[in-house]
Amino acid sequence: MPKITFIDVAGTSRSVDAPVGWTVMEAAVKNNVPGIEAECGGACACATCHVYVEEPWMEIVGEPQPMEADMLDFASDLRSNSRLSCQIKVRPEIDGLVVHTPERQG
Ligand code: FES
Repeated sequence: MPKITFIDVAGTSRSVDAPVGWTVMEAAVKNNVPGIEAECGGACACATCHVYVEEPWMEIVGEPQPMEADMLDFASDLRSNSRLSCQIKVRPEIDGLVVHTPERQG
């Protein structure tokens, strides 16, 4: 099962097992990883599941779709590696993925 690591602003690292077909947001929420609020439940309508994808993973994770890119504008402290974690599907290729949670959501 793919493993995903979440690192918070304090540098605390939490790794979770994420079944293929889940989203990165679901993997965080279902494992009580702090720093991801996901107010809209994964509908790409809140931007409170914002994460920063670690640079080596950017290409594998891919670019946001237009709807996600529009919603990302509502995230605070947007960076070039910003993604909405509810729009990143867990698949075997992302095993080992590392994302950072922002200082605050929304
Ligand atoms: Fe709302 Fe991702 S959970 S946009």
